[in-house]
Amino acid sequence: MSVAPPLSLTVCLPQGAEEWAASLNLRLAGQVEASAWRAGDPPADLAVLWKPPPAFFNEQTRLRVAFAAGAGVDGLLALRPPPGLPLIRLEDAGMGVQMAEYVLHALLRWYRQFDRYAAQAQRAEWRPQPPLPKVEWTVGLLGCGVLAHPTVRALQGLGFPVQAWARRPREGGDLPVFTGDEGLNALLASSRVVVAVLPLTPDTQGLLQAERLARMPAGSYFINIARGGLVDETALLDALDRGHLAGAALDVCATEPSGPEHPFWRHPRVQLTPHIAGATLRDEALDQIAEKIRCWLRGEPISGRVSLEAGY
Ligand code: GLV
Repeated sequence: MSVAPPLSLTVCLPQGAEEWAASLNLRLAGQVEASAWRAGDPPADLAVLWKPPPAFFNEQTRLRVAFAAGAGVDGLLALRPPPGLPLIRLEDAGMGVQMAEYVLHALLRWYRQFDRYAAQAQRAEWRPQPPLPKVEWTVGLLGCGVLAHPTVRALQGLGFPVQAWARRPREGGDLPVFTGDEGLNALLASSRVVVAVLPLTPDTQGLLQAERLARMPAGSYFINIARGGLVDETALLDALDRGHLAGAALDVCATEPSGPEHPFWRHPRVQLTPHIAGATLRDEALDQIAEKIRCWLRGEPISGRVSLEAGY
């Protein structure tokens, strides 16, 4: 009886592809043979990839399935992978908890007035401020997929009112979920802090433009842990300059990396971080991708399949 040779798997990542390939070979010994992608390599059967160069899909013409090493696949889809190629995205794999930490850090800094205390400390001024009423700090999440769940649980655990908006109607359990254009306007108008945790798709590109930002209450806050393209940056800066928005914690920009001249760096109401809110954690991601590959090899359905129509 002849034994089928292992399938070939190419790993194309901005860094660490050799280590990922070695780890996949350990996890999937005898089933796949993984190696780091190099330009001109022969076509492989499977791919694990993130930010591949544009030549990748032109050269890799025999792929049967591709696994993204991240959650948001807008960048990959922009490279126009072959329409029939099943593309599977990473689901959570430790990103959701990191994103919850990021949101809590920003929210608690504002709600517990830590900037004010830092300014007082500069003056060696011991002056307790009256606590702010938590009921006035409703957090509205744009998006309530798997990546948002740890944030919802953490906020609810601390007693913050939480609500969410989803493009399509969905059951949110004890979480009020708004939907559609009207629902978006209602959520924006009734949230003290708006958190973007949505995929970037043709439908969500520029979702938060001037008119929508104007619906947020005066003195509200914005956190973006998803994609810069969700918001019109000029309109956001204008809302911050006017003080209509009291602050923004931004982990993403429309163009990344954002250059030193980007006004977000120096804006007194903005805290900008370099796209680190939900990093891909190597071991968690490798475990999840290896499990998805095992499912695929057994011919079973795999969760996280990207819909080209929906764009995520
Ligand atoms: C990070 O931004 C990701 O999409 O995984």
